[in-house]
Amino acid sequence: MRGVKIVGTGSALPSRVMTNDDMAKIVDTSDEWISTRTGIRSRCYCDTRAGESHRSLVRDAAARSLDAAGIAPEQVGVCLVATFTADTCTPSAACLLQADLGMPEDTLCLDLNAACAGFVYGLHVAECLLPGATRPYALVVGADTLSRVMDFEDRTTCVLFGDGAGAAVLECREGYPELHAVWGSRGDDSSLVAPGVGCDEPSYLHMDGRAVFRFATEVMPRCTTEVLTAAQVSADEVDRFVYHQANKRIVDFAVKKLGLDPVKCEGNIDHTGNTSAGSVPILLDELVRAGKITSGNRVLMAGFGAGLTWAGVLAEFA
Ligand code: ACO
Repeated sequence: MRGVKIVGTGSALPSRVMTNDDMAKIVDTSDEWISTRTGIRSRCYCDTRAGESHRSLVRDAAARSLDAAGIAPEQVGVCLVATFTADTCTPSAACLLQADLGMPEDTLCLDLNAACAGFVYGLHVAECLLPGATRPYALVVGADTLSRVMDFEDRTTCVLFGDGAGAAVLECREGYPELHAVWGSRGDDSSLVAPGVGCDEPSYLHMDGRAVFRFATEVMPRCTTEVLTAAQVSADEVDRFVYHQANKRIVDFAVKKLGLDPVKCEGNIDHTGNTSAGSVPILLDELVRAGKITSGNRVLMAGFGAGLTWAGVLAEFA
């Protein structure tokens, strides 16, 4: 049976760093409130004058992941971009990436919207698509530019989010393990809504923070347990837990409830904020580059977000 392994990762954060003190010049907030309630100290926004955009972040993260994998764009059979804030609805961000990197015409290119859970969904979707693809490598990117859909007069949301992209290259091969993916969605829950084409209300991202907090603390531990059960491994056999970075308190809650070793659950929200679909792959890449995830490691990734959606996988590094 064919399965997948991660053979390379990459990420890209934009250059405009906004500290909590910078946010306090825009809305009635403080470094103390933001850092104690969320763990965030700064976030990054695209600087359009420097040519930064959703497209450029996707391109840079994807190119770095291919470089790390030692894979040429011509070898990619599946190209997925998880996002809900692409520059254009069509061409999709995946098609723009195909053009930017010169991937062949028969590359399966598409965008996927599962909000902050999008990258983890993307890994599972790529796993399903690869056996029927033209070539055995998938490029999975998670990217969002939330600074575009934020209301900078709403202190309850604008301090939380940042822009960024991360990517992973998957290789499909006989004898490689399954991802043991679990997923779910709750389409009848509108506690997190962002505008789309033809949508007058809301004109910005709107969130009931407390409701999403309750949802997150329910699904993160549950997702973790379900993946471990599906994979038939114990938490001790997992090298790293890479959780969606929405709020440090949500991760701390899950870690405590599950009795996990906090060292294995390190986050990066302090300098990224919540980058939505970019969150999990950016953290993954930072851990790889810091030598904290290495060849043969097993990494459990879990995300949750608007939709509402959630997903988890256990991936092995080649
Ligand atoms: N600065 C100062 N005060 C603030 C701020 C701010 N930025 N924001 C809210 N407050 C105030 C509120 O007005 C409230 O004041 P009040 O008591 O006088 O009414 C007080 O702080 C407490 O507000 P709460 O909402 O109860 O604060 P809480 O501790 O719940 O933290 C937060 C809010 C950080 C949003 C939290 O609920 C949370 O993290 N929720 C989950 C969000 C999340 O995970 N989103 C991810 C979605 S992913 C996606 O798909 C995009």
